[in-house]
Amino acid sequence: MTTAGDDDQAYLRIENLSKVYATRDGEVRALNDISFVQGRGEFISHVGPSGCGKSTLLMIAAGLLPPSSGAVQVRGRTVDRPRTDIGIVFQSPVLLEWRSALGNIMLQAEARNMNRKEAAARGRELLSTVGLAGFEDRFPHELSGGMRQRVSICRALIHHPDHLLMDEPFGALDALTRDQLVLDLQALVTERRMTVLFITHSIAEAVFLSDRVVVMTPRPGCIDRIIDIKLPRPRTLAMRETPEFAEYSRQILDLFLARGVLREH
Ligand SMILES: Nc1ncnc2c1ncn2[C@@H]1O[C@H](COP(=O)(O)OP(=O)(O)OP(=O)(O)O)[C@@H](O)[C@H]1O
Ligand SMILES: [Mg+2]
Repeated sequence: MTTAGDDDQAYLRIENLSKVYATRDGEVRALNDISFVQGRGEFISHVGPSGCGKSTLLMIAAGLLPPSSGAVQVRGRTVDRPRTDIGIVFQSPVLLEWRSALGNIMLQAEARNMNRKEAAARGRELLSTVGLAGFEDRFPHELSGGMRQRVSICRALIHHPDHLLMDEPFGALDALTRDQLVLDLQALVTERRMTVLFITHSIAEAVFLSDRVVVMTPRPGCIDRIIDIKLPRPRTLAMRETPEFAEYSRQILDLFLARGVLREH
């Protein structure tokens, strides 16, 4: 795994990034002076309270939103337009109801003019990897919430993106489905050696998946601390019960308690 500051391996570089939104009631400073470097193949999670600018950061990293100040670079190039080398997954799967599971995945392939036959084969393979073999022709209303989110993950991966950006992808799911999807995601990411920027409210999810966890302060979001997670890989569900795992979770919890994000009565 790479580490921050390792220039040869730097994939995403965020430098002194701030974002101020102009609203009718004045300016809202969403992000304040964020800097970090993500290495190729590294899994970084951001955790922080609601409104601290996590989605804003993801949109800026995707090139979908301009920063107010500071710089975003990918492989040494300034990001100044929507990036085409990424896959994005949002909290809600946003599927077209009149297209089948495979049809929804193919949307991405069509938008990119990919070879139809090859893309469909890859779409089927991806669906099978996430446990949806046999569901290719089902429509969204025939799928559960977890299945829909799996389809949206496949759609984000159809074009072999280098960089996967995920904004609370499992937030709306039940605990068991969430556990399964976290395991599926780990397998996919490892197999494809993907670089992932992952946003979550769940401390356990962040610790489980990440090489490093970026803990954010309340708005305006600053980086409070970056925590290296040195648990061996692949991570297993049983690892969540270990003292090492508990210690990492505790560190993040303590930061939230210290900043008033959480209050014990
Ligand atoms: N388009 C916008 N115009 C004005 N203000 C915005 C806009 N988008 C976000 N904000 C404000 O910026 C701040 C950060 O929003 P953002 O959505 O990035 O937070 P978040 O950390 O993703 O929150 P959550 O965990 O609830 O998803 C919030 O105060 C929000 O109200
Ligand atoms: Mg958000």
